[in-house]
Amino acid sequence: MKRQLLATKPLALLLEEMRGENRLRRILGPIQLTSLGVGAIIGTGIFVLTGKAAHDNAGPALILSFVISGIACVFAALCYAEFASMVPVAGSAYTYAYATMGELFAWIIGWDLVLEYTVVSATVAHGWSAYFQDFIGIFGWHVPHAMTRAPFDYSPEIGRIVSTGTMLDVPAIVITVILTAILVKGIRESASFNAAMVGIKVVIVLFVIAVGAFYVDPANWHPFAPFGLTGVSFFGKTILGQTDAGGQPLGMLAGAAIIFFAYIGFDSVSTHAEEARRPHRDVPIGIVTSLIVCTVLYIAVSAVLTGMVRYDRIDINAPVSDAFKQVGLPWAQGIVSLGALTGITSVLLVMMLSQPRVLLAIARDGLLPPSVFGAVHEKFRTPWKSTILTGIVVAILGAFLPLRILAELTNIGTLLAFVMVCISVLIMRFTNPEAHRPFRAPLGIAVPILGVVFCVVLMFSLPAQNWLRLFAWLLVGFGIYFAYGRYHSVLALRHAAGLADAGVVVAPVDDPPAGASRE
Ligand code: ALA
Repeated sequence: MKRQLLATKPLALLLEEMRGENRLRRILGPIQLTSLGVGAIIGTGIFVLTGKAAHDNAGPALILSFVISGIACVFAALCYAEFASMVPVAGSAYTYAYATMGELFAWIIGWDLVLEYTVVSATVAHGWSAYFQDFIGIFGWHVPHAMTRAPFDYSPEIGRIVSTGTMLDVPAIVITVILTAILVKGIRESASFNAAMVGIKVVIVLFVIAVGAFYVDPANWHPFAPFGLTGVSFFGKTILGQTDAGGQPLGMLAGAAIIFFAYIGFDSVSTHAEEARRPHRDVPIGIVTSLIVCTVLYIAVSAVLTGMVRYDRIDINAPVSDAFKQVGLPWAQGIVSLGALTGITSVLLVMMLSQPRVLLAIARDGLLPPSVFGAVHEKFRTPWKSTILTGIVVAILGAFLPLRILAELTNIGTLLAFVMVCISVLIMRFTNPEAHRPFRAPLGIAVPILGVVFCVVLMFSLPAQNWLRLFAWLLVGFGIYFAYGRYHSVLALRHAAGLADAGVVVAPVDDPPAGASRE
């Protein structure tokens, strides 16, 4: 059994599989990939979470939070880019782990990516709902109170979970259903829809920076770091910095751990490697360009936002549009709100596009039932069943769980995925030093090591309960693997058939053939 758990998928086999049947269409070029990246990155993080992070965690030092988080992401992005150029197949970090750390780790990371993409989508659906309500509020319309948000939330002031007096978030459900329908129909439509929305949101972000800059009052940047410049705890015990009423870390680093959410998405470019026309070249370009563009924009937006409004008066639901209202520009509030809505829609689209592709890669390896997760629609060529399933789960989570809790859970899961990718790149440098790397992360092994260090520090800057939630999630994952994946693994079937190192592709099956032996 140990051999199966640590069995790695040979690079040659991964590349061979790319030539098989049932593949997705190769239609995306570098601009579309970068656009998908920006589409996945700029959304709820910058338009919503900046408010919470500045107000509750960092104050104006949020600007530095964005710098720290951005640096962590650049290290991880370079590792993603190196791997994506070597193994340009769908599946992203999951596939990379399969090639380096073995089946069990691959499954764990795949399961962790479910946490990233599905929970991120639910978080983003909430952000969409907040701006939707902000926008219709300009015209005096309102969603009935019981349908405005999740029924409970965490209150940093009193340090515990409180009832919000509502029942569920209906706008979050509605947008999820609409996007699921679009995604089932097809990637080409989705990519052009995405490109249009990305254009609008970048213009709006530039508008926020350019117009907002005229309303910056430098006095608002003092005190610069009201909660300090740190904020790290070790499983609930504060190591560095202040804590809130519930013992959760506060400070610039704690802010960085929250707004890390704003950067999530560049990695989703790697899940589209299979649909890229020239994946070896274009996927690294897409990953790195989209991240750099967004980092620059974020630092500028956070400087403008904290300069326009004193940190403790920043709105935590729709902070960017509200800042324009507060400085006496209600017309700009409408524009920003509409732009945020558009931007957040494109994030949701890309995230919900990525999740089924990761599931598809896992199902092809037999670790999830291929009849559901591996099914590609005959006409649309999309993984339609898992797209619908993803939509249902996102709608349920988005309807009932609060934004902050969903965002923190997403962050810890994604940070873990980044750590694993950095470690995979390190391992690959030693196990396959000669492998062709069309893109290689610079500075030797420094980049993956720094990537691990930065991401682990950010994981410890999140409230401690997130570790428990992460462990609980991983335990469920172990359960699924030992109940299903282990018995249906295509790689194990290959081993059983003596094909382990041959470039022959074995199709996944729902039930292993009678007599197929397992160690
Ligand atoms: N980075 C994405 C957002 O901020 C997930 O919405």
